[in-house]
Amino acid sequence: MNQKSTITNENTVWHEPTIRRIDREKLNNHKSVILWFTGLSGSGKSTLAHAIEDTLFAKGIRTYVLDGDNVRRGLCQDLGFSDADRTENIRRVGEISRLLMDAGVLTLTAFISPFSKDRQLVRDLHNKDEFIEIYCNSSLVVCEQRDVKGLYRKARAGDIAEFTGISSPYEEPKKPEIELDTANQTVQDCVNKVVLYLEEQGVIKR
Ligand code: ADX
Repeated sequence: MNQKSTITNENTVWHEPTIRRIDREKLNNHKSVILWFTGLSGSGKSTLAHAIEDTLFAKGIRTYVLDGDNVRRGLCQDLGFSDADRTENIRRVGEISRLLMDAGVLTLTAFISPFSKDRQLVRDLHNKDEFIEIYCNSSLVVCEQRDVKGLYRKARAGDIAEFTGISSPYEEPKKPEIELDTANQTVQDCVNKVVLYLEEQGVIKR
C-alpha cells in the first residue's frame, strides 16, 4: 500500500450527512456535550462518570462512558504511558468523543489526561460550551492512601515506570468548568453538582 495515501487526507472528501447532530438532539430531547473528567489515578473519575451516567440514564438521556482503563484494553492497547503515548491516547479519545457527540450521545470520559495542551486540543475540537472539563481534585496523598488498584504501591517500589504523580507529571486544570473536591465531598454531592450544572446550562431539561 502506498504509505502516503494512508497518512494524509489529500485523497479523502468530506461526506456531509443528511441526518445532522441537531436532528438527533431534537429526537433525544437533550443536547450532546462532553463531560471530560481529569485527575490523578484514584481521584474518582470513573466512579463519578458512571454514577452520573446512572442518574442521567434514569432521566432518559442517551449517554456513554469512555474509561481510560477500558479503552486501553482495546482501541489504545498499542499505547503505553510515555508522554507521547498519553498524547496519542487523548487525541484518539477526543476524536471518538467527537463522533459520539455527533451521534447525539452525551459523552463522559474518564482519563487522567495529565497534560494541559492535550486537554486543550480536545477542547478545541468542540464548539464552545460543549466541552465541560471536570477536575476531580484529590491530593496525591489521599489518592495514594486509598490506592484502590494497588498501583501507587507498585510505582513507589519502582515496579511501574512513569506513574502519574510519582514519576510523571500531572498539570492541574487552570479554569475547569467544574471542580470537584473528591477527597471530601460524597459521590452523591458530586453527582448533584454536575447534574445541576447541566440543567442550568440547558443541556438537559429539569
Ligand atoms: S492517560 O494519562 O493516558 O490519560 P489513562 O487515563 O488512559 O491515562 O490510563 C490511566 C490508568 O492506567 C490508571 O488509572 C491506572 O489504572 C493505569 N496505569 C497503568 N500504568 C500507569 C502509569 N504509568 N501512569 C498512570 N496510570 C497508569
